This record gives sequence, structure tokens and C-alpha cells, in this order.
Amino acid sequence: HVIRREDYTPPDWQVPEIALDFALDAAATSVRATLNVVRSSAHDRPLVLDGAGQTPLSVKVDGVAVNDWWLKDGGLVIPLRGSAHVIETEVEIAPERNTQLMGLYASGGNLCTQCEAEGFRRITFFPDRPDVLSVYKVHMVADKARYPVLLANGDPIAQGDLPDGRHWADWHDPFPKPSYLFALVAGDLVANRATFTTMSGRDVALGIWVRAADLAKTEHALAALQTSMAWDERVYGREYDLDVFNIVAVDDFNFGAMENKGLNIFNSRYILADADTATDYDFDAIAAVVAHEYFHNWSGNRITCRDWFQLSLKEGFTVFRDQGFSADQGSAAVKRIEDVRGLRAAQFPEDAGPLAHPIRPDEYQEISNFYTATIYNKGAEVIRMIATILGPQRFRAGTDLYFERFDGTAATCEDFVASMEAASGVDLSQFRLWYSQAGTPRVTASVAHDAGSGRATLTLSQRTPPTPGQLDKQPMVLPLKLKLFGAETAQTLAAEQLVLLDQPSEQIVFEGISERPVLSINRGFSAPVVVETDRSAADLAFLSAHDDDPFARYEAMQQLMLDTLVESAANGTADHRAVIAAIAGTLDDAALDPAFVAEVVLLPSDAFIGDQMARVDPEAIFRAREALRRDVGRSLDTRWRAAYDAAQADSFEYSPAAKGLRRLKTVALGYIAASGAADAAGLAFGQFEAADNMTDRQGALATLVSGDSPERIAALDIFYNRYSDNALVLDKWFQAQALSARDDTLEIVAELSRHRDFTLANPNRARALIGAFSVNQRAFNAADGAGYRFVADQLIALDRLNPQTAAKMIPPLGRWRRFDAARAALMRGELERIVATPGLSKDMFEQASKSLAG
Ligand code: ARG
Ligand code: ZN
Repeated sequence: HVIRREDYTPPDWQVPEIALDFALDAAATSVRATLNVVRSSAHDRPLVLDGAGQTPLSVKVDGVAVNDWWLKDGGLVIPLRGSAHVIETEVEIAPERNTQLMGLYASGGNLCTQCEAEGFRRITFFPDRPDVLSVYKVHMVADKARYPVLLANGDPIAQGDLPDGRHWADWHDPFPKPSYLFALVAGDLVANRATFTTMSGRDVALGIWVRAADLAKTEHALAALQTSMAWDERVYGREYDLDVFNIVAVDDFNFGAMENKGLNIFNSRYILADADTATDYDFDAIAAVVAHEYFHNWSGNRITCRDWFQLSLKEGFTVFRDQGFSADQGSAAVKRIEDVRGLRAAQFPEDAGPLAHPIRPDEYQEISNFYTATIYNKGAEVIRMIATILGPQRFRAGTDLYFERFDGTAATCEDFVASMEAASGVDLSQFRLWYSQAGTPRVTASVAHDAGSGRATLTLSQRTPPTPGQLDKQPMVLPLKLKLFGAETAQTLAAEQLVLLDQPSEQIVFEGISERPVLSINRGFSAPVVVETDRSAADLAFLSAHDDDPFARYEAMQQLMLDTLVESAANGTADHRAVIAAIAGTLDDAALDPAFVAEVVLLPSDAFIGDQMARVDPEAIFRAREALRRDVGRSLDTRWRAAYDAAQADSFEYSPAAKGLRRLKTVALGYIAASGAADAAGLAFGQFEAADNMTDRQGALATLVSGDSPERIAALDIFYNRYSDNALVLDKWFQAQALSARDDTLEIVAELSRHRDFTLANPNRARALIGAFSVNQRAFNAADGAGYRFVADQLIALDRLNPQTAAKMIPPLGRWRRFDAARAALMRGELERIVATPGLSKDMFEQASKSLAG
């Protein structure tokens, strides 16, 4: 069943108010809902309430029990005569049997909800679509000993005790909201509390709710929340609007976190942190996700989406906002590099594969499948391009206008773009293609220099490859920041300028160019495109040493490495000298931030190398990359050891500078190990044992697990024994082994899938093992198809429990077109087996069938 964007019609009935009455119990929860419904226009259609899995125990209209109703596709249809009625329904649901983790479910003995996108219909009958906005009143009753804390959206109104050990609480959310933002939590939790005073002087009571044992791990998240609230006031003029803001951490969660109004619910991995159990990466991700969900209060909640095709309206914009926040907390250059690396790892392959879709899709079967890197990360890049084209003042005027115009409504991507145009006077008509065309544009750039006339001519052209359902593409608007440097003097020959390439091809002439120019292009990654240039290894090496845009400098090094690795994968050998010299130059440049150095000297991933090749040859890529790593490790051994020693710290500190040193230290350790040095395993094990923080410990473990030393076994055992009662850290233990470069990784992973601590029921654990293995390019793509078979078996099993989480792991199998005929046939075979599985979910069916067809 396909849902199309062009078929949108406004809701037949509005529900201005809803009162919900929960008698909470893990085995059987009763839900009574009272809806004030109002006919939206002069039509005679019945009221249709979405539902999934329940049957009504009773239905009343205006206080009178009725029998004139029926079920259709899980929903409840009630014919009504008048224009306004009060509808009461009662259902019973079983949270502890809810393995999909959508709707009301149990996690770690507590009860919680996840409604986005369509989970509310698993709780009660309701028009479960984002353009129906209601004021919610919630009454909860529960056993007080088991569920001492009762939370819902909005403000707490009253609470009290009942006989027989139960208690109750009432909550009221004054802001009309769609059902996907509904939330409640009942559990045995404690709060880390603080107060935030908003810019207009209102005090907001903040609470981060966790198990008592985890309380000490909430400081970082709480601080990040306060910083986010202040940042949104300062940068976007957005103030928080309720008197309370609560966050609850749960262990079983399908994704990162959820922005429910006033009651965010988080995967505990994005809340809990201390130096002993969380890496720097985890700390950063926690701050970013806390900020992301908080920022949704305006970009998502105050202004929501009219329909799910508009998902990027809130997600792309909110990712752009959280990226800006994170950039302001430390090195903006490193943050940009990380974001682009993520985009290239997840979104570019999606845009080039069978599941490609525009950031505003035209159709879907299951909306859960569209919470993608395209909607989120390419969506953020599209907002970033608007900000680049408009400049900071006009962009801010645009967001101000958008927030003012659409506050309290369910809006569209078009509303956002029109606000930007109205506030800035900039015509974005052609730019709108970014919302409708899928695929990553490819730009070619080449400079011709005539020394006699001092004229340099830059020729740019663009092409967007076909994607499923979109064979012909129009030229896009590509904002390209570029600059010319002198090859001899390293002087600026042409200052940075922003070129808006909106034609299939264009020439730009520079006069007075006295020496041979070197092109620096797409500086700051100003457009999310692939740039192909004819720049030589020498020019790339030059830029990697001299470019004054940190991203462009990183990019030049990446390109130099990629060119070398692709050649080596194709020919079995390549000249490594240019890469080695460029890395040496970077390590020797004392002016550079160690965090930046660590990013720049890392080789591109196997997967990204494969993306540059007409046919992915995983074994050849692995060999080429290992050979280059070994050579870089050996040739620069003294430098790596010097960098390693210089990065030692006396004690743990979480600051941008300390993080950068830790990162560089583990990168250096990796190169020392890659060199084959006899002392490498001992060095890694020493770091593992001496570490006073998880970053160093995990970094050492990641180095050891790819090798074959006795230290590997010892470190895995020590790590397991030390953290066997900490689920989040145990995930790292599973994940490190799934990402290993060893030849026997599949056997190890298969064995781990039978480990007593492995379960598919917990999404974090499933992703740590199965998800990580399926992005281990070499192990997953073993020539005999055993990796594909293993993953398909696991996903078929997972689908029976949790379709959403299973379907998210289909894309690696969908990359078959990129491989040789033998692998492609094996991958297709597994996809066909999945599609033929009896009782397969709609989620899995859509992902697997599209992966076969595309
Ligand atoms: N809105 C949440 C966030 O990005 C994520 C919800 C994901 N929902 C889903 N069905 N995958 O902040
Ligand atoms: Zn979001």
C-alpha cells in the first residue's frame, strides 16, 4: 500500500481536546480516551480513528454507549450526525508484550512510550496524523511501589494516593500538539534537577530521570541541556515555553531520542556518561542529541509537520541547528569534518542506491523507513546551503519570520522556503529542486591558465545521476565556495568567493593570475556534492599543506589518499610517497590543532574507497588500505611515537584540547600497530590497562581486536569482566569484535550471536553486533556469501520482534549493484529469501523489495 504526497487532504475531523485516563500495568493497561471532535468542513463522512492491534471495549458518543461502529484496517469508524461530538473509547493494551517498542511498552521494569511516527494508534483510537493538534489532559493511576514516578507532557497538575497501594497523577499540556508528541513514563526513577532561567526571566524546572544507580552519570547531559537552552535563545531567539522540562533515559529504544513536548525520552546511550564508561565520541553525541531534542521544541513542536512527507522540515532543520550548536562547543572545523564524513558514509550511498529518495519524498509504504540520512543529514545540508546563500543576517530574518508565521501550526517544507524568500528577497525557485530531486550532484571543475595573458578560466559543470523513479534531472543551484592559490608562492591569487552554479556548465574567468593557480573548491563543503577535479597529486599535497580553509585542507588530503588507494586497489600497487610526505608535513605542523591533525591523517574507510570504484572489490580495497597503513606506519614510525608520547595526559579532562590529544594518541597507536612493530600489542595493552577513561581503553581495544596477540584475548576478557553489568559498555565489547579486521570475524560474530549477553530484543545490542558487522565491508562481503546469509538470518528473526529496527539494517544488502556478479547474486538471494518470509513486516517488505528492484 503506497501513500502519496500529492494525495494529501486536510483532516475530516479535528480534535481540539483529548483527555486520557490510564490504569497502568505492565500486563494489562486500560486506556480510556475522551475526544472532543469537530467536523472540519461541510462533508458527511464518518469519524475515522486510527488504531492498531486493539478492539474497543466500549464506544460512547455524547455520553451514550453506541453499537453503530466498525473496524477498518485496524481503525475505528463511527458515523456521526452533528458537527461536534464527544467520543469516549476504552481499550486494553499489554505493554510488556510490546516488543516493537512503539506505543506504550516496558523497559527495565518501567513503562514508557514512543509515538512518532505512528505509535499513538497502538495506545488508543485517534486520528494519528501530525496535522491534528489537540490539548492533552492525562490522568494516570499505577501501583506506587512499582511505579513511584508518573510523568507526562506539559505541567504536573495534581497527584495523590489511593487505597490498595496505588497512586495517581494528572498532567496538562497547554500547547496543542499532534499525537506523535504524546508521552508518558511510569517507573522507579530519580532525577538530577536544575533550574534554567529563560531570557524573559521565567524559571524552568529541569529534570533528567534515570535509575538511581545511574544518577551520577547524568551531569554531562544536564549541563548540555542548559547550554542548549541558552544557545537557542542567543542564536535563534527561541525561548522555552513550559515550566518543566523532563528527560527520561530508557535502555530499550528504537533510535536516539524523542522530542515529546516537555517530556523527552532518550535511549540511555545518549544520556549516561562518565569518564570510565563513555568515550569522547559518546560525550559529544550526548550533547548533540540533547540539543537536537531540545531544539525540536520550536523546530518540530511549536511548528510541526503537516504530513510525514514534510519530515525534513523538522529533522533537517533541527540537525542543522544541533550541528551549529556542537560547532560552537569546540572545534568547528573538526565538527564539519565529522559531519561530512557521516554524510558520505550513510547518505551518499543511500542517494546512489535503490532506496534513494528526495529530502521531501513523494511516496512511501511505511513512514518509519524514511527516518533516513537523506531526510536528516542531507536535509541539514539543504538548510545549510540556504544559510550560505542568504548570509547570517538574512538567514536569521528568515527563521524569525518562519517561527512567527507558522507558530502553532502544522507546516510544510514549502512554508519554510517561502519564509526564507520573503525575509531575504532572494529567489529560491530553482533551489527548490533540492527538495524534489534525489541523487548526489556531481560537479567537475578544471582550471586552464594562460601565463601570457594572466588569465585563468575555471570550467564548472554539473550532473545529477538518475535515481529510482527519476531518470532525468534538472540542474540544481550549487553554492560553491572557491579560491585560487599560487602554486609557487602559496599566495592568494583570487580571494574566496561564493559561486552559485545553476547551469549545466559555466565558465568563470579570473584576470591578473600571474602564476599557475591551484583550485580550492567546495570550501567548508558548501554544497553536498561530489567534486571531480583534474588536480594532480602535487596540487593536492600543496593544498593539504597550505589551504587556509580547514575543511578544504582535510579534503585535499582525503583526495590524495583516495586517488592512491583506488589506484592500488585496481592495480595491486601504487606509489605511497606523496601520501606519506603529506602526512609527515601535517604531523610536523606545530600550529595545527591535534584534533584536526587526527582527522586529517586518517585514511578513508574501506566503504568510502569502494564508493569511488566502478565495482567494489572488498578484498583488493582491504589489501590496498592495509598496505598503505603499514607503509605510513613504518615510514613515519618516529613521528607516530613522538605524537603518541606528546599526547599523554596526567588525568582525564573533558575539554576540546584534551579530547583532541586522546584522538591523536589512538590514531598514532593504530599506525604503530599497522606498521607491524613488535611492541605494538604491548603498547596497546599498556594503554588499555593504564587508561583512566573509556576513550583510551576502547581505542586500545579496537587496535587489539584486529590483531592476533595474546593481549587481544586478555583485553577482551578484562573488558568483559569489568563491564558485564553495564549494558552500554557491553555494546562496545560486541561492536569492537564485529568491526574487527581479522579473517575470522564472521565466525567470532556468529559465536557472539549465541553469547548469553546477546539479545535481539534490545535494539542497541542488535545494532552493536549485527549492524556493526554489516558495515564491516570485508567481513560482510565474504565471497562465499556467508556474511550475507548470517545478517539475513538475524534480520528475519529480529523482524518478528521489532520490524523498525530490523528494516533499518537492510541497506547493506541492497548495495548488490555495486559488486561483482557472484556477490550480487548472493545478496539478491538473501533479499529474495527475506521478501518470501511468511509474516514479514511492511517495514521489511518495503526495504527489501525496493532493494531488489532499484
Ligand atoms: N523525532 C526523533 C528525532 O529525530 C526521532 C524519531 C524517530 N522515529 C522513527 N519512527 N524512526 O529526534
Ligand atoms: Zn529529530
